[in-house]
Formats: sequence, C-alpha cells, structure tokens
Amino acid sequence: MTSEKNAILCVGLVCVDSILVVETYPAEDTGQRCVESKWQRGGNASTTATVLSMLGEDAEFMGTITDRAEQRFLMEDFKTNCVDTKNVIVCEGSGCPTATVIINKQTGSRTILNSRNGLREMSYADFLSVNLDLYKWIHFETRPNCPDVMTMLSRVLDHNARVEDKIVTSVEFENPHRPHHDVLFNMADYMFVSKEFAQHYGYTNMEEAVEGLTHTCQPRIAIICAWGECGAAGKQSTSETVTSPALKLDHVVDTLGAGDTFIAGTLHALAKGRCLKSAIAFGCKLSGFKCGMRGLKGIEHLKNSSPVLSILK
Ligand code: FRU
Repeated sequence: MTSEKNAILCVGLVCVDSILVVETYPAEDTGQRCVESKWQRGGNASTTATVLSMLGEDAEFMGTITDRAEQRFLMEDFKTNCVDTKNVIVCEGSGCPTATVIINKQTGSRTILNSRNGLREMSYADFLSVNLDLYKWIHFETRPNCPDVMTMLSRVLDHNARVEDKIVTSVEFENPHRPHHDVLFNMADYMFVSKEFAQHYGYTNMEEAVEGLTHTCQPRIAIICAWGECGAAGKQSTSETVTSPALKLDHVVDTLGAGDTFIAGTLHALAKGRCLKSAIAFGCKLSGFKCGMRGLKGIEHLKNSSPVLSILK
C-alpha cells in the first residue's frame, strides 16, 4: 500500500452503482427481465483510484462516505482492490449516494440515474488532516464543492512552494454545471475536460477544445480532452497539440467508467515519465480495452498477460 512520497491520492465521490444489464433498452412503463444485475463500487475518483491500483500504483481514495449498511460493501471493495482509504470521512447518519445504471447489451451504452441521498461533500477542514508528504500526485474530481477544492489545491500549491519534490496535481472537469468550477481553471498541472464540458463551452472537437482552453490558462498547465470514439487530445500552451485515436472495438460491451479509466491510464503514464502524447495514447488504449469487457476486473490481468499488454505500449 502507501509508501513515502509514492502515493497517488484521488479526491471525490464514492457511490454504489446498481448495475442492470439489459438485452434491449427499456421503453417507459414496460417490464422486462435483466441479463444481469449487481452492485458495484462507483464514483469517478473512486474508480480512477481502482484502476491506478490495478496498474500497480499506490492508490488512495479520499471522500465522504455513509456510516450505513453500504459502507461495509464499499470499504471491503476498496480493500479487495488495494485502494487505501485511511483519510476517508465517515459521516454519521447520512445516506449513501447511489446510481442506477442501465447498460444496454446491444451497444454497451450506460445510462446513469444518480441520487446524492444527503451525504455531504468533502470540506477544506477534512483535507487538513492529509499528510501531504506522502504523495507524488493528487487528483481532484469537480463536485458541487469547487470553492472547497480550490482551497485544498491552494494548500497543495503552498506545500509545493516549500519543498523540492513537488506534488503533481490534476483536476477532472466532467459535468459542466458544477457551480463556481471556474475557480479551479488555473490551478492544477493537468486539467482533464470531458466532451460534454468542452461542448458546453462551444467547442466542436477535441483539438479545438484543448487549443481554446490553453489560451485561458497559465503556460505550465496541460489540458487533456477525451472525445469518445474520436480518441483524445492534449496541449500545453508552449507546445503543439497532440492527439491519439481511440481503440477500435468490434463490440462495445460496457462503457461505464471509461472516462475514469482514461484518466487513470493517462495519469499513470505521466507519473512514469511518459510525454503527453504517449500518455494519452496509453489512456485511450486502456479505456478502449475496458469498454470491451464488463466492469474493471480484466484490467488487473493485463500485467500478467503480455500479448494484451503489448497493445498498450
Ligand atoms: C462512472 C461513474 C459511476 C457513477 C457516476 C457518478 O464514471 O463514476 O460509477 O455512478 O459516474 O457520476
């Protein structure tokens, strides 16, 4: 698990995903038997931490969690996947965020219906207990608490100003409607923006998005944008735009968590010292590979399976 200065901390949501795999997408006010139904640990930061751990990183998740029955399921699953949870904040008497996820067997599409169920977001005060000396990278997911995330990031940047061995920082902007998310635009080293986020700002493709957004950011900041089946683009203001195609699949099985997997793959490759182009290429291949299977379990076996690993090179 976590060792000195080697861990990657992912801050954000953990929730219970109630997955329903259906043969055909349901019509309103009808009934049908599902192909499969199961509970899965979800949430963007929680999933990114899982994939990082599967890739061999010392991964940790931090966020708020219920003290009700679901807590045990979630904590056991973190443990099974070797994701450290020492800084998780257990909230007494709060419900558990859940998502009902319909996965269409024909297309692999995932339709997510989520509810927060009263669990509070993490605050800056919660983050004060984090021992920053342990981390090489801290990744934040934008939630409804952007002003708090800003102060958390400021704490990391203040720490970086005092030490030689800096913590690399990244922020994921997926939902374009998070209040005050613009306070986070110019802070982290890497900004991961979703297709939906980019489209909200008027961009019509991934190259345009990273080129437009870098103009608004400091030169040291890199923007990375994944655009579904088009792949991903990345740019730092001082260098050329780099792109990677998505992995072509004959059959898409399950796209739930594909974006979180892309972030984990890209972050892992960057942490290993790869350049932006090869990092996003790795992220695209890993998330493409994930879309070809149900859940995330198969990623774990990549390390021991050299033919599969070679497609990730
Ligand atoms: C996938 C996911 C799901 C969760 C939802 C939260 O990216 O993290 O696991 O239900 O998004 O928005």
